[in-house]
Amino acid sequence: MGKKEIIKKEWNDAAESWVDFVRKGKDYYRDELNNPATFKLIGDVRGRIVLDLACGEGYNTRILARKGAKVTGVDFSEKLIELARRQEAKEKLGIQYRVLNAADLKKFSSNHFHLVTCFMSLQDIEDYEKAISEVTRVLRNRGRFVFSIPHPCFETIITNGKRTSATKRYFETVKYPVKWKMERLAKPFRTTSFHRTLTNYFDALYRSRLFVSRLIEPKPTQKGLLKHPQLREVLVKPQSIIVESIKCAHSN
Ligand SMILES: C[S@@+](CC[C@H](N)C(=O)[O-])C[C@H]1O[C@@H](n2cnc3c(N)ncnc32)[C@H](O)[C@@H]1O
Repeated sequence: MGKKEIIKKEWNDAAESWVDFVRKGKDYYRDELNNPATFKLIGDVRGRIVLDLACGEGYNTRILARKGAKVTGVDFSEKLIELARRQEAKEKLGIQYRVLNAADLKKFSSNHFHLVTCFMSLQDIEDYEKAISEVTRVLRNRGRFVFSIPHPCFETIITNGKRTSATKRYFETVKYPVKWKMERLAKPFRTTSFHRTLTNYFDALYRSRLFVSRLIEPKPTQKGLLKHPQLREVLVKPQSIIVESIKCAHSN
């Protein structure tokens, strides 16, 4: 099995436990930290044509659709897309799901989407530069690419079995295993992530003519802090960044 296939298999194997984690409100970093800030930034999507890249089982894809967007969700995990489709059969929101690698979006024509979202996934996408250049291609001129990732300055990297803070080896770009083993998971699982620097991401955006318009380091909601006091650590050390960039096509 090739390296890319292994990363995909990890997500296929994680799918059932991931669905339980996300849909049963156990992912409070999503519900009380990242989603409130990201959807505030995204704003009104009524009537917009939206691509949700690396959409997983579609939790945020469904939020976009409920807000009135015409949404397509893509992910390379067949299992996650199958679970997303099953949910679409129960709650018909008109979402189209496709099994696709984020680095190869040739199924979509150029200049098609008003907005591309990528929620907490770019750090897991091996060929992120190709994915970003594909995002530019499928976006309309002045369309937006909004993504969130774990904060590259503060994430925890695992190398040779040892947990290290990115503050100690920030400039090393490494691929590392993520061991999901919190008690609240139905079953532990393992995935793969890539530590990259802010420069890596912002250079890739710049090369693809995506110009950064906003950067947000979200803080937890008051309700979230009361329900999950663990979130207090995010008041002093950000957990994630949310980036909005805009496609500026050549004028000539
Ligand atoms: C942390 S999950 C986030 C899923 C979803 N965006 C959400 O917010 O629930 C990361 C997702 O990235 C997907 N992924 C990783 N590499 C990918 C690739 N090269 N192409 C498409 N999807 C990919 C995984 O299958 C997984 O669904």
